[in-house]
Amino acid sequence: MAIRLDKFLSEMGAGTRSEVKKYIRAGLVTVDGIPAKKPELKIDEQQTKVCFRGKELSYVAYEYYLFYKPAGCVSATEDNLHKTVMDYLTDVRRKDLFPVGRLDIDTEGLLFITNDGALAHELLSPAKHVEKTYYAKVEGHVTEDDVNLFKKGVDIGEDVPTKPAKLVVLSEGDISEVELTITEGKFHQVKRMFEAVGKKVIYLKRLSMGNLTLPKDLAPGEYRPLTKQELEHLRNIQHTK
Ligand code: URA
Repeated sequence: MAIRLDKFLSEMGAGTRSEVKKYIRAGLVTVDGIPAKKPELKIDEQQTKVCFRGKELSYVAYEYYLFYKPAGCVSATEDNLHKTVMDYLTDVRRKDLFPVGRLDIDTEGLLFITNDGALAHELLSPAKHVEKTYYAKVEGHVTEDDVNLFKKGVDIGEDVPTKPAKLVVLSEGDISEVELTITEGKFHQVKRMFEAVGKKVIYLKRLSMGNLTLPKDLAPGEYRPLTKQELEHLRNIQHTK
């Protein structure tokens, strides 16, 4: 496939489109060893050797990361007040990465980060029913009644009740510990489901999304690339149903 030289350079983080045009004109970019003159030059991104300020830039079209979102970080790429996901993903190639779906600022746990819009779209599609499992601490006694109510679906003030959700009570007490698996992604869904049964989520952490599980060896704020198997599995979701 062919790509414009200025696009290649800006996608690989050399600068904005207008900056890289200047760099090209200033002779800072070589293509197969020859100083490039035209930003619009079409190159084969896999075969052509592009150097910027003497260093080779290899091209990657897509990147896929698992990120352990800490509390206090927003699931966005830009924010004036808070740290964003991108403040943590410092050692990446693509500049157009984004989180797939959102977690509240106080929610921790698994976020999938990519620039693959088609895959993201499929994962977020309600029709795919991708399972998301959360661990929560909840104020109040969570009981078998709640398990049954969640199985049927609860009214969280939307047009229709929530889809059946699997609630597992890990411990019941003044503060209960639970795991909840839902297949939707409504705004504040887990918190609103517990509110619907008169309880309050005081801690929330996402453990998994589809086949992606929060790795045991990641600490809050850390990230790692998806393995080949994880990516293949995700692509299967994309191509099924
Ligand atoms: N449900 C919530 O209430 N908050 C989240 O961050 C994710 C799911």
